[in-house]
Amino acid sequence: MPNVISKSVKVFAPASVSNLNCGFDILGFALDDPGDEVILTLNESKKVSIEKITGDNGLLPTDPEKNTASAVIQYYLKQINSNQGVSIILHKKMPLNSGLGSSAASSVAALVGINELMGKPMSRRELLPFAMEGECLACGNAHADNVAPSLFGGLVLIRGYNPPDIVKLPVPDNLWCAIVHPELSIPTREARQILPATIPLRDAVIQWGNVAGLIAGFYSNDMELIRRSMQDVIIEPVRKVRIPLFDSMRKIAMDAGAIGFGISGSGPTVFAFCNSLIQSENICKSISSLLLTSSIENQFYVSKINQQGALITTL
Ligand code: HSE
Repeated sequence: MPNVISKSVKVFAPASVSNLNCGFDILGFALDDPGDEVILTLNESKKVSIEKITGDNGLLPTDPEKNTASAVIQYYLKQINSNQGVSIILHKKMPLNSGLGSSAASSVAALVGINELMGKPMSRRELLPFAMEGECLACGNAHADNVAPSLFGGLVLIRGYNPPDIVKLPVPDNLWCAIVHPELSIPTREARQILPATIPLRDAVIQWGNVAGLIAGFYSNDMELIRRSMQDVIIEPVRKVRIPLFDSMRKIAMDAGAIGFGISGSGPTVFAFCNSLIQSENICKSISSLLLTSSIENQFYVSKINQQGALITTL
């Protein structure tokens, strides 16, 4: 068993925006704000337990088998043949079922924390499959487009899943992100169940042209190419009907000069790529006002792309 080097650790793991419209399950990026915080403390109990959760309105399970943070720690400890006891305090600092990678951030923070406390026997790449197991527990599918950005930071391509093949993409200069979360809950599990099992070849051709264009745009810093490529003919048409005022929100963002607009992950959060802080703030405020006129409470965030991923902070 690896040496235990410290008793307590605090970890911040960022929220993430996945899919980027055309890249369902294969593209995502991390945000500076919001994110989750996990505090882990080793103990002699030989059990993984949840001591406290804040910010979830009592909605998250405290059963260590069902909570993603504790479950991924259990998978991890089993893998390294350890019966180490650990208690978890989880501060949820983002909305649940929002499309911002909430379960991913909790799993990633928990894994980075336990790995640190156990003396770092694994690299971050080696932690990825455990975080993906957390996603499977949370929504029934082990997608990596939230956990990988939260773990590694940056703009991430999951080139393949068997085994996970992660490629970090260059981030264009001055790329800002406007994020608006209408206060509705859309569980990812449900948002995946409504998707078609098969797609017409003509749609696939449009979609992979857009994915290729988007990647080329990131590499060449070509905002116009990014704008043309951020189109989704497969997932968005099915999911947007569950997000009130989606087309009006898009119009506001694009009329204000956004580079692209779409659903963040499985929604209901929406995001826009912007050219500046001011532009992203203005787009957030305008979309927020629109939602409020329809009595839809909301929160908004403005962020650059977070390049660090999960961060160990001092206690
Ligand atoms: N790619 C996943 C989906 C992300 O769209 O279902 C979930 O946040």
